[in-house]
Amino acid sequence: MKSNMIVSRYSTIDKVDPRIFGSFVEHLGRCVYEGIYEPGHNTADSLGFRGDVKNLVKELNTSFIRYPGGNFVSGYNWEDGIGPRGERPKRLDLAWKTLETNEVGVHEFVDWAKEVNAEINMAVNLGTRGIEEARNIVEYCNHSSGSYWSDLRRKNGANKPFGIKTWCLGNEMDGPWQMGAKTADEYGRIAAEAAKMMKWTDSNIELVACGSSSCEMPTFASWEATVLEHTYEHVDYLSLHRYYNNTKNDIQSYLAQSLDMDNFIKSVVAICDYVKAKKRSKKTLHLSFDEWNVWYHSQEQDKEILKRDPWSVAPPILEDIYNFEDALLVGSLLITLLKNCDRVKIACLAQLVNVIAPIMTEKGGAAWRQTTFYPFMHAANYGHGIVLRPQIECPTYDCEAFSGVPFVETVAVFNEEKEELVVFAVNRSLDEDVEFDIELQGFTVSATPSFTEISGFGLKDVNTKSKGTVKPQEKSAVRSGGNTVIAELAPLSWNVIRVGVK
Ligand code: AHR
Repeated sequence: MKSNMIVSRYSTIDKVDPRIFGSFVEHLGRCVYEGIYEPGHNTADSLGFRGDVKNLVKELNTSFIRYPGGNFVSGYNWEDGIGPRGERPKRLDLAWKTLETNEVGVHEFVDWAKEVNAEINMAVNLGTRGIEEARNIVEYCNHSSGSYWSDLRRKNGANKPFGIKTWCLGNEMDGPWQMGAKTADEYGRIAAEAAKMMKWTDSNIELVACGSSSCEMPTFASWEATVLEHTYEHVDYLSLHRYYNNTKNDIQSYLAQSLDMDNFIKSVVAICDYVKAKKRSKKTLHLSFDEWNVWYHSQEQDKEILKRDPWSVAPPILEDIYNFEDALLVGSLLITLLKNCDRVKIACLAQLVNVIAPIMTEKGGAAWRQTTFYPFMHAANYGHGIVLRPQIECPTYDCEAFSGVPFVETVAVFNEEKEELVVFAVNRSLDEDVEFDIELQGFTVSATPSFTEISGFGLKDVNTKSKGTVKPQEKSAVRSGGNTVIAELAPLSWNVIRVGVK
C-alpha cells in the first residue's frame, strides 16, 4: 500500500513544550520504594536511590515528573515527609491499602529529580486537606527565607528554595474512589481559593486544575465547564487522564485508540474555549494530559494481592508487563500528543518505574526496559522543535471502535537548531508494507536519513529482566533526494526517520 505526506516549513502547528514528555512518580506499589529508591541495592547512591534506575530514566529523557500522586495525594500529609527520616510517621494509605513509611519525601525527591534532569510537577492534597496546607507547601518549597515554612526547609537542609513551578490542584476529584471526592462546584470553589493563595505566596507558579478522571465519567464535560466557571482566571492548565486496554483482544480497534485520545483532547479544548468566550476572557487555557498510558494487564492480579496482603509496604501492584502491541499504541498516542502541541503543553506517561511503567526493577537485582520504553525514548529525545501540520493521503480501515482509521499515524517535527526533520510513524496494517512518500516543502534533504524501527515481533511479545527482545533496530529501507524521502514501513511497526535538512 502507498501513503503520501506533504510537510511544509510554513505550515506549522506549534513548538513542542518539552514538558509533553513528562512522566509520573506516585507513592504507589513499587514505584518509589524498590523502584527509584532502594538503599542497600548495589547501585544505590548515598541517599538510597538506585543508580541503574537513574541511568534508565536519563536514557528515557523524561523532562518533567508529576509527584507524589495520583490517588495517594488525596490523603497525603506532605509534612510527614520532611525532617529526620527516623522520626517520620508511618501512615495507612487508604488509596492503595498500603503502609507508607515516608522515607522519601519532598527533599529526597527534589534531589533525585535534579539528578535525572527532570522538573517536578507537585500535586497538593485537596481531598482530605485544603487551602491552608496548599499554600504552606508552596511557601516551604519556594519562599527563600525568613518565614516559618521557608526557615523550616532551611533547617531541614535545603538553604535554597526548590523553585517548583508547576502545581496540580488535587487529583481526580470527580472520582468516587478518591479520598475527599467532590462535586464540580465544591471542587471548583476550593481549587479557585487554593489557586489564589498559592499564587499570592509565589506569583511565578503555574497551576493545573482537575478535569475529569476520564472522558467516560458520567459527569465528563459538565465537570470541566463547572470547574472552569470557578477557576478559569486563576489556573493555567486543565488536566486530562486516560488509560487504554485491549481486553477484547481486538488489535485493529486497540491500535485505533489514538483517535479516542485525539477526540478527547479536541472536546476538552472546545470546553475551555466555551468558558473563555462566556467569560469574555483574553486568556487561552492549555491542557495537561497528566495521566496517560495502557493499563489493564495487572488488574485481576492486583485484587488478589491487596486481598491477601493489605497494608504492606510497596506491594507489587499495577505491574503491567507490556507487549509489542502496547508499544505500538504508546507510539500512536505520542504522535497524537505532538499533533495537539498547540494546546497540550504538559503530558505525563503514568507512571515511571514498576507501576504501569516503561522501567521495571527487581528487588536487589536488575532494572530493565519494557517494550513501551522505546517509543517514549525516541519521542523524548528527537521530538523537539516545531510540529508541522501534516497533509496526508492514506488508505483507511473500519473497526468496531472507529471508522476511517488511517493505516499510517504520523507526525513530523522540525528541529531548527539541529537542522533536522524527524518523522514518527506507526503502520497499523497487520500484513502490508506501506511505501511512505514524504514531500518536503521549504526544505531540501542535506544528509542521508537515518531510519529506526520496531517491528517483526509477535503482538504479545514482552521484555523480561533476562530477555530484552522487543527493541529498535536500524533499517536501510529509506531513500531520499532533493525534497523527497521514501521509506518502507513494515506491517505493525513504529518508525523514526531523521533527515538532515537545509
Ligand atoms: O496512575 C494510577 C492511578 O490512576 C492514579 O493514582 C490515579 O490518579 C488514576 O486513577
